[in-house]
Amino acid sequence: MNVIPAEGKLGILMVGLGAVSTTFLTGVYSVRKGLSKPVGSMTQYDKIRVGQGSDKKYLAYGDIVPLAKLDDLVFGAWDVYPANAYQAAMYAQVLQEKDINPVRDELEAVVPMKAAFDKNYAKRLDGDNVKDCKTRWEMVEALREDIRRFKADNDCARLVVIWAASTEIYVPVFEPVHGTLAALEQAMKANDTVHVAPSMCYAYAALAEGVPFIMGAPNTTVDIPAMWEMAEKTKMPIAGKDFKTGQTLVKSGFAPIIGTRCLGLSGWFSTNILGNRDGLVLDEPDNFHTKEVSKLSTLESILQHDVQPDLYTDYYHKVRINYYPPRNDNKEGWDNIDIFGWMGYPMQIKINFLCRDSILAAPLVLDLCLLSDLAARAGRYGIQRFLSFFLKSPMHDYTQGEVPVNHLFQQYTMLKNAIREMGGYEPDEELD
Ligand SMILES: NC(=O)c1ccc[n+]([C@@H]2O[C@H](COP(=O)([O-])OP(=O)(O)OC[C@H]3O[C@@H](n4cnc5c(N)ncnc54)[C@H](O)[C@@H]3O)[C@@H](O)[C@H]2O)c1
Repeated sequence: MNVIPAEGKLGILMVGLGAVSTTFLTGVYSVRKGLSKPVGSMTQYDKIRVGQGSDKKYLAYGDIVPLAKLDDLVFGAWDVYPANAYQAAMYAQVLQEKDINPVRDELEAVVPMKAAFDKNYAKRLDGDNVKDCKTRWEMVEALREDIRRFKADNDCARLVVIWAASTEIYVPVFEPVHGTLAALEQAMKANDTVHVAPSMCYAYAALAEGVPFIMGAPNTTVDIPAMWEMAEKTKMPIAGKDFKTGQTLVKSGFAPIIGTRCLGLSGWFSTNILGNRDGLVLDEPDNFHTKEVSKLSTLESILQHDVQPDLYTDYYHKVRINYYPPRNDNKEGWDNIDIFGWMGYPMQIKINFLCRDSILAAPLVLDLCLLSDLAARAGRYGIQRFLSFFLKSPMHDYTQGEVPVNHLFQQYTMLKNAIREMGGYEPDEELD
């Protein structure tokens, strides 16, 4: 496969300059200075076997395919609040001052552009660094201008736009608006604020400018036929939805244990306490619903009742998120899993994950950006299924009845094979 080399600067434009974005940024800047390591990043650490038998070797991603280097990245952002990345990192309280201060100058230089925002989509936010647009179409045009200006000012060869902003309220797929690109464009021009979320304006603007778009929240945004059409038309990759960080990572890695051993499942209760701004926004029922749908989708495609009706019919799957300020970004997730074994005898499994949300999300931002840029250079466009590994609710063509792959290890095989293919090697299904 012919992949265009990763020459020149890659601009990463982040929608939202909150906990995840600033943790990501601080990390990249400090890795560049040799002050820390990009732990958790597949593109920086993982090695994939290429070839088989006596020809086999294990190579880092960058030795198989041309990836942008950390030194070649430049950053920009949009946010509802005017705080620069240093102030935002301090506010987020994910990282300690001693880890932020050595890269303070670099962080201060990242000042957010005015957001395309509609308070109805995140009622708990009240920043004023917001564009004054009369219609959704005006939002698109203003964002396109931002993208072009950023690219020129920073002398970027290529860009990627990633959404790491708050979760919007739930926008169900509405065929008359979301079904085709023409209908979506018309709705933007008619300022249909009910069906066109601000996030759709970011995605549309990115694709229109020939820039890949990644959705890190569970928003509907690019998960609609109109956007698939836009991605086809512009030949740009899209990926989503929702970074797979803590609880869902565990779920998609643990559920296969139950499924592989043919044990039964009668219930899986997942709850979380979390106290950052993300938790505050998710405390609003309409915003939580978007997350709930995303988190619930994981199990059903791994433990399938139509495949194993004795084992997986009618299991009770519940997900809760509770806003609890004292914990800030240090989320606590509890999973109670009720399983049954031989002759139906019940057993329980408890998992208590005391994680750090943004510490888990930051390497995903890096990997998703580098791999989307790679995909664009490899001529891949539309939904990037090989990136499902990083996502809680992987995009799939639901109009054709496609079942998404949620099983972590199947997702990993898809990821490795895409890298192998882009690097000119044979895909395979072996375990290592
Ligand atoms: N941290 C994780 O583990 C994790 C996992 C999966 C998904 N996510 C998602 O990632 C997103 C970011 O999480 P976070 O912890 O950084 O949240 P955060 O609240 O710290 O940051 C989000 C930022 O987005 C800004 N924002 C909201 N709407 C905007 C708009 N229309 N345009 C520009 N900026 C806007 C907010 O002002 C805020 O500063 C959330 O949607 C969250 O659900 C996070």
